[in-house]
Amino acid sequence: MVMIRPLSEALTDTSVDLPEGKPLLEITDLALRFGGTRAIDGVSFDVKNGELFSIIGPNGAGKTSIFNVLSGVYRPQAGSVRFLDRSLLGMRPDAIAKLGISRMFQNIELFDNLTVLDNLMLGRHQHLDYGMLSGMAWVGKAKRIELTNRRIVEDIIDFLEIEAHRKFPVGMLPYGIKKRVELGRALAMEPKLLLLDEPVAGMNVEETEDMARFILDIRAELDLTMIMVEHDMGLVMDLADRVMVLDFGKRISLGEPEEVQNDPAVIAAYLGEGDEGPTLEDEIAESKGGQDVEEAAT
Ligand SMILES: Nc1ncnc2c1ncn2[C@@H]1O[C@H](COP(=O)(O)OP(=O)(O)OP(=O)(O)O)[C@@H](O)[C@H]1O
Ligand SMILES: [Mg+2]
Repeated sequence: MVMIRPLSEALTDTSVDLPEGKPLLEITDLALRFGGTRAIDGVSFDVKNGELFSIIGPNGAGKTSIFNVLSGVYRPQAGSVRFLDRSLLGMRPDAIAKLGISRMFQNIELFDNLTVLDNLMLGRHQHLDYGMLSGMAWVGKAKRIELTNRRIVEDIIDFLEIEAHRKFPVGMLPYGIKKRVELGRALAMEPKLLLLDEPVAGMNVEETEDMARFILDIRAELDLTMIMVEHDMGLVMDLADRVMVLDFGKRISLGEPEEVQNDPAVIAAYLGEGDEGPTLEDEIAESKGGQDVEEAAT
């Protein structure tokens, strides 16, 4: 029986030492077009070290596109993206992952036929360079690294409370657990910036509260910087330090949750979603279900 270690002892490389006031991520005048569609239209923002930064906005506003640029999947036509004082533009997704950006996808991207354990181990392998370990002389060392990785993955499984599922193929698991495994895979990569694309989409109240608790605990234990895209306004307003609002690819608001919530431009964008559509206030009230997420999560 292996003792449960705190997550901070398993993942030791997630926080960054930066000079006071130096942002971890700086995005300037970013533009991305698909034919006539301006998916991202001159957006600038920065993310502070240790911050939980949230991006919200109506469907098609460009939120996932920003994640795709950040992880090297889309190449923007203009603008700059600097992470840890390096430009990410032109870097391949695997190189960006190695540099320390990992991601939980809007549509779960796991290997359905592999077990939870193996999906998480793949997260570790993506993180490490095994090339230098291939020679015979390195077999012993490779084995040691493999054992270390296994231990880290088991710690993440304990942390996410998915021990009962660890040997099951991911494809068999309920949706809420799959989302947790996705979070686990992203954590296994030991990122310095974690991108969460709708971590609670499609979840019931209980699953949402569990996910909120994991996000808060990751934050408290690892000091990990996160960007969270979410439509669940209650969750965003409770968890985020700052919120950026996009509409048709443009940044229409940026500030602390309270400021953004009362910003007339934001209210107008949400009202504009359709005559019958919910207002931002309605969405916050509805998603909270009368309960404060942060309270419920502690
Ligand atoms: N690969 C692509 N090819 C063409 N158009 C794209 C592509 N990816 C995104 N778009 C377009 O860019 C715009 C922004 O899409 P994006 O997926 O970033 O929105 P989103 O804010 O994540 O929306 P949602 O809340 O629905 O997930 C949309 O108009 C979308 O159709
Ligand atoms: Mg999206």
